Amino acid sequence: MKYAGTLVAATAISLISVCAAEGYTNESEVPYYGRSPAVYPSPVGNGTTSPTWEEAYRRAHSVVAQMTIEEKANVTRGVEGPCVGNSGAVPRLSIPSLCFADAPNGLRGQEFVSGFPAGIHVAATWDRALMYRYGHALGSEYDGRGVNVALGPVAGPLGRVARGGRNWEGLGADPYLAGGGMVEITRGIQDTGVIASAKHWLLNEEEWRRNPGSMGESLSSNVDDRTLHELYAFPFMDSLRAGVGSIMCSYQRANHSYACQNSKLLNGILKTELGFEGFVVSDWDAQHTGVASANAGLDIVMPDGGFWGANLTMAVQNGSVGTERLDDMVTRILATWYVTGQYEKYPSPAIYSASELHAVVDVQADHADLIREIGSAGTVLVKNVNGALPFTNATRFVSVYGYDAPVSASPWTNPSRYMGGYEVNFGWETYNGTLITGGGSGGSTPPYVVSPFQALQERVSRQRRTLRWDFFSEAPTPAYVNNDACVVLINAYASEAFDRTSLTDRFSDNLVNNVAKNCTNTIVVLHSAGIRTVDAWIDHPNVTAVLFAGLPGQESGHSLVDVLYGDVSPSGRLPYTVAKNESDYGSLLNSTVSFDAFPEVNFTEGLYIDYRAFDRQRIEPRFEFGFGLSYTTFQYSDLRIEATGNSTSPFVNPNVAIVQGGHPELWDTLIHVTCSITNTGHRSAPEVAQLYVHIPSGPVRQLRGFERVPLEPGETKQVLFPLTRRDLSVWDVVAQQWRLQTANYTVSVGASSRDLKLHGVFEI
Ligand SMILES: *[C@@H]1O[C@H](CO)[C@@H](O)[C@H](O)[C@H]1NC(C)=O
Ligand SMILES: *[C@@H]1O[C@H](CO)[C@@H](O)[C@H](O)[C@H]1NC(C)=O
Ligand SMILES: *[C@@H]1O[C@H](CO)[C@@H](O)[C@H](O)[C@H]1NC(C)=O
Ligand SMILES: *[C@@H]1O[C@H](CO)[C@@H](O)[C@H](O)[C@H]1NC(C)=O
Ligand SMILES: *[C@@H]1O[C@H](CO)[C@@H](O)[C@H](O)[C@H]1NC(C)=O
Ligand SMILES: *[C@@H]1O[C@H](CO)[C@@H](O)[C@H](O)[C@H]1NC(C)=O
Ligand SMILES: *[C@@H]1O[C@H](CO)[C@@H](O)[C@H](O)[C@H]1NC(C)=O
Ligand SMILES: *[C@@H]1O[C@H](CO)[C@@H](O)[C@H](O)[C@H]1NC(C)=O
Ligand SMILES: *[C@@H]1O[C@H](CO)[C@@H](O)[C@H](O)[C@H]1NC(C)=O
Ligand SMILES: *[C@@H]1O[C@H](CO)[C@@H](O)[C@H](O)[C@H]1NC(C)=O
Ligand SMILES: *[C@@H]1O[C@H](CO)[C@@H](O)[C@H](O)[C@H]1NC(C)=O
Ligand SMILES: *[C@@H]1O[C@H](CO)[C@@H](O)[C@H](O)[C@H]1NC(C)=O
Repeated sequence: MKYAGTLVAATAISLISVCAAEGYTNESEVPYYGRSPAVYPSPVGNGTTSPTWEEAYRRAHSVVAQMTIEEKANVTRGVEGPCVGNSGAVPRLSIPSLCFADAPNGLRGQEFVSGFPAGIHVAATWDRALMYRYGHALGSEYDGRGVNVALGPVAGPLGRVARGGRNWEGLGADPYLAGGGMVEITRGIQDTGVIASAKHWLLNEEEWRRNPGSMGESLSSNVDDRTLHELYAFPFMDSLRAGVGSIMCSYQRANHSYACQNSKLLNGILKTELGFEGFVVSDWDAQHTGVASANAGLDIVMPDGGFWGANLTMAVQNGSVGTERLDDMVTRILATWYVTGQYEKYPSPAIYSASELHAVVDVQADHADLIREIGSAGTVLVKNVNGALPFTNATRFVSVYGYDAPVSASPWTNPSRYMGGYEVNFGWETYNGTLITGGGSGGSTPPYVVSPFQALQERVSRQRRTLRWDFFSEAPTPAYVNNDACVVLINAYASEAFDRTSLTDRFSDNLVNNVAKNCTNTIVVLHSAGIRTVDAWIDHPNVTAVLFAGLPGQESGHSLVDVLYGDVSPSGRLPYTVAKNESDYGSLLNSTVSFDAFPEVNFTEGLYIDYRAFDRQRIEPRFEFGFGLSYTTFQYSDLRIEATGNSTSPFVNPNVAIVQGGHPELWDTLIHVTCSITNTGHRSAPEVAQLYVHIPSGPVRQLRGFERVPLEPGETKQVLFPLTRRDLSVWDVVAQQWRLQTANYTVSVGASSRDLKLHGVFEI
């Protein structure tokens, strides 16, 4: 979804030609940077994925058969309405307008709805069950307000660029972790009857010139075919496999062809290779042609008629777009509406503008409890010395510092509070007030915000202890000789529509150092919309504990205090790599800034982003991908590897039909890896066990399993990691298939991507 705040208006440039290339059969001819092969015609959806889809297609066909061309064209376009997007209705056949709404972490811009943790925070829990419950709670709020299509979950951006403005909306810089989140959140949302729209398909890795404007066309993300499959499309496969009903195509160009008219991405990969049965919706104003986007596989344009409407009717009448294509667009939209059961009974949208007097439709239910739980589960403890945390009964006097401790001064004067940095200070790098979500269309509109300061006050007042505070000084004085701990709260802001210019900021770093200078027990809490470097103070001997507290949503303070006081043992793990120096990210630090008329960025690093790059280049990170501490200790033992007996032939059986998500055999479990984990400490706590595999001809190691395991002191549990054919395959660019290599595979299980405790090898 587009955030309209600071954007240059998109100019309507009619780019008819899709950069075409002939089919290829040989590796040295495989299109690399900047060539997007033409894939036509657009596959006609048919529902063969499942009997439920077949039935939905049958119903859709019978309705579409009764429609006029004008009616069909109406269904494929956006119209005015209460929601962020509204499709055209067909009143004659009782087909309603469908309501599309943001955001992936809460129904944005509404009252009596919840402000959930952002995607990156959910990823930091590494907990599949919480991911599902998150999707389900979100879905039930959309459902309760009559929203047909929820615009999320997000796996693009994945996080190629450390300073990318929207990385926090997604599920971390690894396709397997993000894929795990995509499965659960998609299922959670759709189990409530709401259609999820996985976004942004594909390669939307930075904000700089994502849309065309006065400088020229938008940036082209140029990527090779293997990287496209193994890194960027990978998590979307999971969402498709989980049944996602809608996919949103992205703003920028992909190999020089706009994503919403890119026949390789839409007709080729999505609708042929991955058997997509649902519909493709454009990102808002991301359509740049009429005929070309229709033939390339776009099914519905938002938020208005774009290049379609009457033009599409005309294009069908004059044969530029086949009737079959128009029928397929409408059929896909209606089949998805049928498959989710929305045709039976669905509330009409209870979506209002802030200035409108309206009925109270409160959909918050008990979601605050879940938000609080995910808030603390996604909090990552990265340093804890001298027994700094958790606080105990001996912690009698706490001092609180930093602009991130209270809520911002006048939070509700602008309903776009978190949407574009109205209260961002210190040069856009930080947010003046506690940060619970990022900016732009992905920001939530929480019903209230429990600040860290409020929650600390509650706790201290209950225990009859003492609290002191100074929120806004850069060099807070006085320091209190009697205090037991100094908690410093800082943040790092990011938003849609611009990329970050730094992963640190001087004010916050000075603040931490100034407090630490005079307080031997300084605890730093960092709310951040992604990566934040900490080397300005991480080794300071008086900085005794550091928490990456993410973007936790409305219960922020409670989630934090639950961890500080040990009610919850921290188990969050970093879903990205925190470097010692920003320059360690190399060419993947900044977004590509170009003033060319046809700007482009070549993803020359291929598969090597985030930890894959650090591992290959042997750069020691400050905190590696998957890292996080606990209040207890764990022991790993007893690694076992067993073949399941499923076929390990190099390729899947070509006689089995593709279903949504790809060839069904890609999901066959080939190997079972198990190990035992024991809680050897004195506190009940979950451990996040992670499995990494070296796939020959790939990165040193890649995440291919994770499980969050709650353990009582002394308790041992066995953990099972099923490895599927897809998990172990490479994308063969010549065969145009996933290929299982005949080789030895090294597998490691441990507590992070570098704290690997058990190793084994299996042969395929
Ligand atoms: C692959 O293409 C290159 C360049 O067109 C050609 O020289 C080579 O012989 C081809 N290889 C095969 C195996 O066809
Ligand atoms: C259904 O569509 C898929 C994807 O385009 C295609 O592979 C399959 O052959 C089609 N099946 C039938 C029965 O038409
Ligand atoms: C097109 O959609 C609009 C808005 O939902 C509706 O008012 C109008 O009647 C529809 N037109 C046709 C031809 O059905
Ligand atoms: C149709 O195309 C023209 C230009 O080609 C454009 O101005 C108009 O907005 C398009 N859309 C609709 C809904 O007619
Ligand atoms: C901590 O203090 C509370 C009362 O403030 C008391 O109930 C509890 O037992 C104490 N815990 C320990 C470990 O002393
Ligand atoms: C942050 O907000 C507070 C009021 O809540 C204000 O006093 C302070 O000056 C602001 N800081 C900056 C740098 O804008
Ligand atoms: C440190 O604390 C002492 C005693 O509380 C105080 O006198 C002094 O001003 C403080 N120094 C700084 C730099 O805050
Ligand atoms: C990254 O971008 C910043 C501005 O945002 C610029 O000052 C800096 O030179 C760039 N660094 C590199 C390594 O390109
Ligand atoms: C740590 O804090 C103590 C007590 O305020 C102070 O004396 C000492 O200089 C501080 N250490 C550093 C390295 O700043
Ligand atoms: C991208 O790669 C192409 C093909 O190698 C090259 O011609 C082009 O100059 C590269 N663009 C940039 C911005 O590096
Ligand atoms: C093959 O994989 C499927 C899907 O994971 C699984 O259900 C089945 O049990 C596996 N077959 C064997 C023999 O383990
Ligand atoms: C796997 O390793 C074993 C032991 O080194 C070796 O004998 C075998 O040939 C290897 N298998 C493959 C497929 O390379």
